[in-house]
Amino acid sequence: MNNSSKYLLNFRDMRQQSLDDTARYSADIDNNSINDNVSVLEGGKARVKVLEKEHSRYELVDVLVDDLPPTLNIKANADGNVLSLTTENDDKFTVRVNGDAPFSVEFVYNNNVEVILKSDRLVLRKTDSDEAFSFDVEFAGAERLYGLHHHAHPLTLGETADGSKDPFRLRNSDTAGYGVDTTIALYGAVPVIYGHSPNWTSGMFLHNAAQQWVDIDYNGDNPSAYFMAESGTLDLFVMVGPTPKEIVRQFTNLTGIAHLPQLWTLGYHQCRYSYQSQEDVKDVVANMDNHDFPMDAIWLDIDYTNEKRYFTWNPETFSDPIEMQQNLSASNRKLVTIIDPHYKVDDDYPVYAGGKENLFVKLPSGENYEDDCWPGRSTWFDFLNPDARDYYASWFSYDKFEGTTETLAGIWNDMNEPAVFNGDYESSMPSECVHIGGVPHRDIHNIYGFLQTKATHQGLMQRDNGTKRPFILTRSHFAGSQRYAAMWTGDNNAQWSHLGITYPECINSNLVGLVFCGADMGGFLGNPPDALLQRWFQAGVWLPFFRSHSNSNTNRREPFLFAEEVQDVLRKAMKLRYKHIPVWYTLFYEHTLHGDPIIRPFFYEYPEVPEEPAHVLLGSNILARPVVEENVDSITVSFPGSNTNWYRVDDESWSVHKGNTKEELEVDINTSPYYYKAGSVIPLKVTERKSTKDMQDDPLTLYVNLDEDGNAEGTYYQDDYESFEYATDDKFLCVNLKYVPDTHGIQVEVIDGDSDEFSPVIKEIIIHDLEGSEVRYSTNAEGVPLSGIDVSSHFSKTGSNKMLILL
Ligand code: NOJ
Repeated sequence: MNNSSKYLLNFRDMRQQSLDDTARYSADIDNNSINDNVSVLEGGKARVKVLEKEHSRYELVDVLVDDLPPTLNIKANADGNVLSLTTENDDKFTVRVNGDAPFSVEFVYNNNVEVILKSDRLVLRKTDSDEAFSFDVEFAGAERLYGLHHHAHPLTLGETADGSKDPFRLRNSDTAGYGVDTTIALYGAVPVIYGHSPNWTSGMFLHNAAQQWVDIDYNGDNPSAYFMAESGTLDLFVMVGPTPKEIVRQFTNLTGIAHLPQLWTLGYHQCRYSYQSQEDVKDVVANMDNHDFPMDAIWLDIDYTNEKRYFTWNPETFSDPIEMQQNLSASNRKLVTIIDPHYKVDDDYPVYAGGKENLFVKLPSGENYEDDCWPGRSTWFDFLNPDARDYYASWFSYDKFEGTTETLAGIWNDMNEPAVFNGDYESSMPSECVHIGGVPHRDIHNIYGFLQTKATHQGLMQRDNGTKRPFILTRSHFAGSQRYAAMWTGDNNAQWSHLGITYPECINSNLVGLVFCGADMGGFLGNPPDALLQRWFQAGVWLPFFRSHSNSNTNRREPFLFAEEVQDVLRKAMKLRYKHIPVWYTLFYEHTLHGDPIIRPFFYEYPEVPEEPAHVLLGSNILARPVVEENVDSITVSFPGSNTNWYRVDDESWSVHKGNTKEELEVDINTSPYYYKAGSVIPLKVTERKSTKDMQDDPLTLYVNLDEDGNAEGTYYQDDYESFEYATDDKFLCVNLKYVPDTHGIQVEVIDGDSDEFSPVIKEIIIHDLEGSEVRYSTNAEGVPLSGIDVSSHFSKTGSNKMLILL
C-alpha cells in the first residue's frame, strides 16, 4: 500500500466514524464541552469556529490579511430552537442557528438559504496519533462547485462521494509528472469552495493549513462538500456572494491582493534546468535577438550555485556574475535565480552556520531535522519563526548575496512544499517535525512555501529599500500567496493532455486570488513535438505568467533552435503577447483595487453560462480560444453573453459573432483564435520591440470595437512600472477611453491617479462596427496629427480631467 492510500483509508474511516458519532456530538453539545462561535463580518461574510473546551488546537497565523473586515454587532432573535442572527449594517444577511439535533447553521442572503453547515457528520477527535476533524457544508441550490485549488482537474469539481474518484486532497506535494483529470494533491492548497448557480454564488473557506481531504457529493438535497482536516482548528468563513464577482472579492478581502508586478514580469521568460554558464546565458540572449524573439528575462536554475549552496555562485561557470548582469542590463533584460528552502549542512557555508543553532526546523528530539535534497545532506529553515525569516531575508542584500545587482530582479522559490528526497514521508517533511513554539509540521504543512515567499518578499523589499516591487515565483502556495508571489503549475509533461489542463488550473487559481499563474510552456518533462510546442506558446499568450521551461534531460528548446516555420509560429505568439502588454498591466492594476481575477471563466462574467474548456476571458473584453487539441483541423468556439457580440481579430477579418452561439472553425497551425468584445476599447502597443522596457514610451493604438448602439469604452493604466509610488503617492494615471458617437470622438477622462508625469500618446485609432466597416485614424510616430485628420493625440491630466480627441 502506498502512503497516499494509507491516508485515504484514514479518511474513509473518519467518514464512517462521523456517521457513528452524530449522537456523541449532540451529547457533547448538551454537555457543553464544545463551543460554537459565530461572528458576522462586514461585507457578506461570517466566521464560525468550533472548539473543544478541554483541548486547545493550533490556530493558524500569517494567512489572513492584517486588516480583516470588522465584526458587526449581532442582534439575536430566538424562535423556539432557532436563533436568528442579524446585523444593523446588512439587513439582507441572516445567520440561522438551529439548535435541534442534528444542529445546523444556515447562512441566508436576501431570504435565500445559501450555505448550510450541519452537525450530522461533525467530528472533532483527539487521539494519540492525530487530532482530526470533519464537517459537511451544503451549497443550497448550487448547480456546480468550484475551487479547492490546486488539482489537475476540469474547473467544475467532480463527484467523488460515489467512490468513482478519491476525494480532492489538499496537501502541498512535489508531484513531478502528475496525471491529469485527477483529484491528487499537487503543489498548492487553497481550501476555498464556491457553490454556483445562475442566480447566486456562495462560498466557504477553511482557514486551516493542515492536510485535508474533501469529498464532493452532488446526490443529496444540495451539492455538498465533506471536509476532513488532519489537525488544527475548525475555523471557517462563509461568504454569501451573491455573484461570482462578489464571492471572489469577499475571499480576497480576507486573504489579500497582489501588488502590481513590475512591467518586465509580464513579458516572455526564458528558463531551462539549467543554463550552465555565463557564456550559455550570453549566447541564448544573443540568439533571441538575432532571431527577432522578444524576451524580458532569463532564468538560472540550481546549477548556477556553488554545489547547491543558495546565495552563492559556481566559481568556474559563473565566475563573473556582475559582468553577466551588466550585459543583460545593457539589452534591457533581467535575471531571475532560484533560491530553495533547503540548506546544505556544511559548517563552512555561512548561510547554514549562522542559522544552525535555532533557525531550522527541529526533530521532536530537539536536533535539527536533516534529510537529503539537491545539496545532499540538508536542513530546512523554520519560516514560521520570524527570526528565521529575518535571517534568511538578510541574505538577499547586495553585500551578502555577492555578485548580485539590480538586474537580478526576481527570485524563484522552488521545492518549498517542502520537497525532500525521502519517500518515507511522501517526499516531504515528516509531520512530527517541530516549528517554533512547538508547533508540529502537520499543523502548518500547507503554508510552509507561503511562509518562504513571505520571507523572500521581505528580503527583496529590504534589499532595495522598498523602492522596487519584488518579483517572486513560487511552486508551493496557499490562500493569500498572491500577496507575495506569482506561481506556476509545477512539473507538467510535454503532452497534449497537460496543455489542455493548463487553462483550468490557472483559471481556478485566478478565482481563488492567485492571479499571477502560468505553466511551463512546452511541458517540463519530455520533448514536445513541434506542433505541441507551437500550440503551447499560442495558448500561453493568454496566461498571466509567460515562461518556457524544460528539464535537464530534455532537448534544448529555445525558440531559435527550431525550423523556420516553427519559429514563425512561436515568434507570432510572442509578439502578440507583447502587443497586449498594456491590457495585462491595466488588468493587474484593476486586480489591486478589489482582488478581481485577471483571466476568467465564462460564468464569472455571465453567471448563466458554464465554463468551456480551452476558452478564457482576459478581463471582460478579450476572448481567447487557442487550439489545445492534437491533430485537429477544426475546433468549436463558444461565444458567451446573449446580448454580446464578438469581433474576430486574429485573422484580421473582424467578422462578428453573436453571443450565446457556438461555431465550428477550420484551423491550421497558424490559427489561434481570439476576439474583442463589441463595446470595448482595447489599448495596444504595436511597435515591435525586444523587451517591455523598450516599449515603455511607445505610443498607443486604440482598437475601438463598437456595439449595437455604436458605443465602446475601455480603461488604460500607466505608472513608473517598477516602484510602489503608485500605491504610496498616487503616482499613476488611469483613464477611461470612451467613443462618443454624437461628437464623433474619443473622450479621455482621468478616473484616478494624481500625477502629471504620465502622458501617453495615441498613434492610431481603429474603429470597427458591426456592419463591417473599418475606419483608421493615424498620426505619425511622435503622435503629431497627420494631414487631413483633426486629432489632438497627446493628452495629459493638466488643466482638465477630460479631453476629447476629435476624429
Ligand atoms: C523542480 C522544479 O519544479 C523545476 O522547475 C526545476 O527545474 C527543478 N526542480 C530543478 O530546480
